[in-house]
Amino acid sequence: MKISFAKISVLSKGTVIYGVPNGGKLGPAASKFDKRTRGSLSRAMKSASFKGEKEKSLVVLAPVGTRLDKVVLIGLGDVRDLRETAAERIGAIAYKIIAREPLATIVLDVPFSVGISAGVVASHIAGGVQLRSYRFNKYRTKEDKSEKPKLRSLVIQCDEPATAKASFASIRPVAEGIFFTRDLTSEPANIIYPASFSARTKDLEKDGVKVEILGETAMRKLGMGALLGVGDGSVRESQLVVMRWDGAKNKKTPPIVVVGKGVCFDTGGISLKPPGGMWDMKWDMGGAGVVAGLMRALAKRKAKANVVGLCGLVENMPDGAAQRPGDVVTSMSGQTIEVQNTDAEGRLVLADVLWYAQERFKPHTMIDLATLTGAVIAALSNHYAGLFANDDDLATQLTAAGQHVEERLWRFPMGEEYDKELRSLIADMKNIGGPKAGSITAAQFLQRFVKNTRWAHLDIAGVVWNEKGTILSEPGSTGFGVRLLNRFILDNCED
Ligand code: BES
Ligand code: MN
Ligand code: ZN
Repeated sequence: MKISFAKISVLSKGTVIYGVPNGGKLGPAASKFDKRTRGSLSRAMKSASFKGEKEKSLVVLAPVGTRLDKVVLIGLGDVRDLRETAAERIGAIAYKIIAREPLATIVLDVPFSVGISAGVVASHIAGGVQLRSYRFNKYRTKEDKSEKPKLRSLVIQCDEPATAKASFASIRPVAEGIFFTRDLTSEPANIIYPASFSARTKDLEKDGVKVEILGETAMRKLGMGALLGVGDGSVRESQLVVMRWDGAKNKKTPPIVVVGKGVCFDTGGISLKPPGGMWDMKWDMGGAGVVAGLMRALAKRKAKANVVGLCGLVENMPDGAAQRPGDVVTSMSGQTIEVQNTDAEGRLVLADVLWYAQERFKPHTMIDLATLTGAVIAALSNHYAGLFANDDDLATQLTAAGQHVEERLWRFPMGEEYDKELRSLIADMKNIGGPKAGSITAAQFLQRFVKNTRWAHLDIAGVVWNEKGTILSEPGSTGFGVRLLNRFILDNCED
């Protein structure tokens, strides 16, 4: 789909959407149209009692005296509130209405108040359209033609098309990053396994990201017994992907390191999961998917920061060679772990990748993302991701970034009393706590592999996949985390 921006002008074909502010007063272009069509818009608004309420819409089909297919009015609500995410929502709603039209134009002819430029609003509407337009349909061979989106060209008319174009130039790359994440996360586990995932990250080299792939031999040399143990039952080789974007002026500035859990399929291993809903575990690599998508977004918008992305990629399978409950593994840190439950595998993978991150990169800040626990879904459902941090400022910055982009985080407590749960009779720790506060004991486990580094852990188990769809995504993979971390880096880490 081509999205472009233009000055406001008279339209003769396709579908036209006018934005209408709270109160229902039409802008100059819409008013002119209304007069020309003898009140087609004002009469429809009156009979539907539509007054520009936020996110409501009204469709007027084939208005007499024009060659237009449809005129749609979309409520903008209070234009003073029309900041980024509100504009994105309007774009997403507009997309749903125009997806099956080949050609559409959105007209923003209403006055915006001081501080909000029409061009910036237009660019975020475009961003919402783009995010909502994503579909993962490569495996459909028999889709009904009438179901398929047809929109090929969208023009957004506003007073400041040049501003809109410039602003969209930094929004589009983020959408491209999100699409990369959504592609990786939507793929089934027979297509995306550790080696095929890492092969796809090679594509980032085109954007200027340095990509290194470590296989099992290299990881064995590094002593990554915790990560490797998880992959023991799989015929697929475990992988570690290292992606580097050195965008800061000083290439030696300590980087932000982002680590993703990449369990390409989680059967639970010998501690096998029940069959109902097990297919969900194809997206247990969602954290790694976000890291890959974030690297694409940062590189494409040429972020002025040094960022390293690490993906720990494994497949957790039951097999004759699989690790058993009770096995003891030695992590890269030297600490030993009694694996009491092979289904608590994500933390084993992260233990080694977090250690590796600190040894090699001496990060300024380290953030991991993982679909780590079912318990975080019990606590927060799919409305927030769980946040854990050893630094209050970092927690505040991440929470603020989440609010800004509406990918919200809720911080959990941590502490000694939870850490005690991890005591093992025969090793330095076991990989599960008791039956309560499972997300916190998982975070405590990770913290045992964090040195003096400023660190946060995001448990994204509830937000990676949405069965019903969200405002900005169709049912399926959301890409939650890419916009959040992009915003965090933009606000706190760039030159
Ligand atoms: N990948 C799962 C967590 C998960 C569950 C993510 C449901 C998304 C939806 C993780 O590896 C896991 O199995 N965790 C266990 C930990 C338990 C064995 C301590 C869990 O949450 O039940
Ligand atoms: Mn598991
Ligand atoms: Zn898992």
